[in-house]
Amino acid sequence: MGERIGRPEVQMSDEVITLGLGGATHDFTAALAVNGRIVVAIAEERLTREKHAVDIARMSSDFGTTAELQRQAVDWLRYVIEKRPFERALEYIFDATGVEPAKIAMVGHCCDPRLLPAELAGVSRARFNHHLAHAASSYLASPFPDAAVLVADGAGDRIRGSAQLEATSAYHGRGEALDRLWRVGDPHSIGGLYEAATAMVGFHPLEEGKTMALASFGSNRWYEPLSELVTLLDDGRYAFGAETADIRRVPDRISKISLLRQATGVGERPTDEEKADLARAVQMVTEDVLLHVANHLHTLTRSRSLCIAGGVGLNSVANHRILADGRYDDLFIQPFAGDGGLAIGTALLAAHRAIPGGPPREPMRSAFLGRIYSDEEILAAIGRHGELLRTSDHANVERRTAELLARGDVVGWFQGGAEWGPRALGNRSILADPRDLASKRALDARVKVREVFRPYAPAVLRENQNLYFELEHESPYMLLVAPVRSERAAEIPAVVHVDGTARIQTVDRESNPRFARLLDAFGTLTGVPMLLNTSFNLHGEPIVETPDDAILSFLRCRMDALVLGNIIVERRE
Ligand SMILES: [Fe+2]
Repeated sequence: MGERIGRPEVQMSDEVITLGLGGATHDFTAALAVNGRIVVAIAEERLTREKHAVDIARMSSDFGTTAELQRQAVDWLRYVIEKRPFERALEYIFDATGVEPAKIAMVGHCCDPRLLPAELAGVSRARFNHHLAHAASSYLASPFPDAAVLVADGAGDRIRGSAQLEATSAYHGRGEALDRLWRVGDPHSIGGLYEAATAMVGFHPLEEGKTMALASFGSNRWYEPLSELVTLLDDGRYAFGAETADIRRVPDRISKISLLRQATGVGERPTDEEKADLARAVQMVTEDVLLHVANHLHTLTRSRSLCIAGGVGLNSVANHRILADGRYDDLFIQPFAGDGGLAIGTALLAAHRAIPGGPPREPMRSAFLGRIYSDEEILAAIGRHGELLRTSDHANVERRTAELLARGDVVGWFQGGAEWGPRALGNRSILADPRDLASKRALDARVKVREVFRPYAPAVLRENQNLYFELEHESPYMLLVAPVRSERAAEIPAVVHVDGTARIQTVDRESNPRFARLLDAFGTLTGVPMLLNTSFNLHGEPIVETPDDAILSFLRCRMDALVLGNIIVERRE
């Protein structure tokens, strides 16, 4: 720890600096790019400590009529404007880089202009289309010179000349260009159907990941009736409830829940079994639709590389199914696939507009886009809680941490800059021993306090992934779920889901050398080169950002130890 301070190199002379703002109605974020390279990015929620940067309980999970939805949207906008949703993220970015608004060549965004911060008033700005920004966030950050690009979310911007909101879009990325091939509009939104099912099984908006986990417990009894709701069209698109995508023949948004109810017979208060079966059916139909769209996109583009973006891109089960189907050799999904990730798209689109001929393409190499905290900052944070903490400094902190984990401790792991996106990937993580189910139980009960049906993910070095998982492709952002090799599953019960799969994070030595050393040390001690890796946050809270956040969370739960840089912190007894 301590070789680097948190200020990314930003020279002020001939560099073109662009700022991207992400989020449209929730998950507000900001990202700064220098000549088309993202140097720092942060979600507002990490700083305000309010998950998704909005009060999710106020977000309606009703699917009302068009008029009701419009009224709700106006109320929501008023509420969000009052929150000033980019304020803390901008302060963080300016502080971390030393950049001032006057140095910014262009601000890119895709939200209502009334949400833009006053301090950016004098800066040239561009509003980009929501799905184009999603597409750019993945394709322009990918290593591919040519790729099919699939965007799927609940809903994006209104389609010009239509009453529909864009729901699924297909693009072809070639060089610097992104050409749209087609769009499907809501109410034909596969993301929207997933949202409706999520509401029906009793989860909040933006908790679709829980529905995906629950799906593994369900039966196939409603797969067929739900499949009949969707028509896969020959041109690669899809439609609900009609053989053509004719808007007049399908019901409006309120009917997604009615459609699901009609197809399944589920009432207002589904049983646990019905919830799991519904989750299963909607997961399977979603996979079918995405596979159809992705495979047809291959036919259209002839590309062997695929980029996915939009909240549906977080469906790591569907992502693996597309990859396993074989049309594509390579898949890239930017770690913040949902609306927060739009900041990367808008920052890069702004760079392409501000720089004549566009900047050279800069593939994203890691998710660690948060600022780095210095040794002094970490020591000062520990000092603020000194009476409660016992600390020890270690020359080989990885080996000592591996020893704690191997004896069954649950350890908070705070290193370097924070991860961009909803997954902790080894810098703001809670770690445990994957060999023992007791560690899952300890996490469920003492630390994360979460639903027991949700699995924990394994982090494994790239060179070892094949020993345990049926997955050749890398999965650096934990966005692929693949089968665990059945002969090895009994070795790692704490990270195997009920259906024998795992949501895998593959770790490469270059992008996170310290985490790789920890995995090596744990492997040397135990023979299993893998750790259970879950995000460093307490129930209902965003992932910790600062050393103070980490210490406060540590003190509020029954985690055994906290590692900040080289320092191991334990509770004073
Ligand atoms: Fe979106």
